[in-house]
Amino acid sequence: MGIYNEHVLPRIINAACGLKSADPLRSRVCEGLEGDVVEIGFGSGLNVPFYPDRVDRVAAIEPSDVGWKLAEKRVAEATVAVERSGLDGQSLPFADNTFDAAISTWTLCTIPDVATALREVQRVIKPGGTLHFVEHGLAPDERVRRWQRRMEPIQKRVFGGCHLTRPVVPLLTNAGFTITELDVFYEDGAPKFIGADSLGVATAPTGVGA
Ligand SMILES: C[S@@+](CC[C@H](N)C(=O)[O-])C[C@H]1O[C@@H](n2cnc3c(N)ncnc32)[C@H](O)[C@@H]1O
Repeated sequence: MGIYNEHVLPRIINAACGLKSADPLRSRVCEGLEGDVVEIGFGSGLNVPFYPDRVDRVAAIEPSDVGWKLAEKRVAEATVAVERSGLDGQSLPFADNTFDAAISTWTLCTIPDVATALREVQRVIKPGGTLHFVEHGLAPDERVRRWQRRMEPIQKRVFGGCHLTRPVVPLLTNAGFTITELDVFYEDGAPKFIGADSLGVATAPTGVGA
């Protein structure tokens, strides 16, 4: 994996994603989570303080050992049980229909085969279950998209495979989710090419009439 990706990058991510300016977005995306939850791309556990009381347990999926280590204090102080339960969102080690909900924050940009990961999420949540997401991706404006296309090769090299041009909503709908809440905006304080965010809730098919 290399020293940079294994040891340095998770710390950079912890610092960059841990900016206080992201806290209101984390709070919003966690709103309404309840029951058994799977979080893909758990990172250093920056969402943990925002899990609502109605969450019973969280199964954390995260490949980085250093990320998990950096999460230790947050996990220890969590009001809900959090367990590292897998390493790869593309292959979730759970039976079908295990979870009430899933959460992904700034992770769909990085998972290599994101379509497979979304199919996996849909498989392990119950019919009608929800995926709460805030993700950066393809910007609404062509001028910003041009910058995203220019910057993407560098972004991928420096940030462990992070894409700038993934179209978040089409990825979710192509995977079979229905978008039930959505806010698209540029994140305050971030360059537009990296801060084109989509925040919302995607609902899995109920199975009825499907
Ligand atoms: C930009 S970070 C976001 C971390 C965290 N979700 C947050 O909001 O702070 C992307 C995360 O996705 C993780 N990741 C990369 N490939 C993954 C995969 N195949 N499955 C699950 N997570 C993955 C990375 O290790 C990293 O922790």
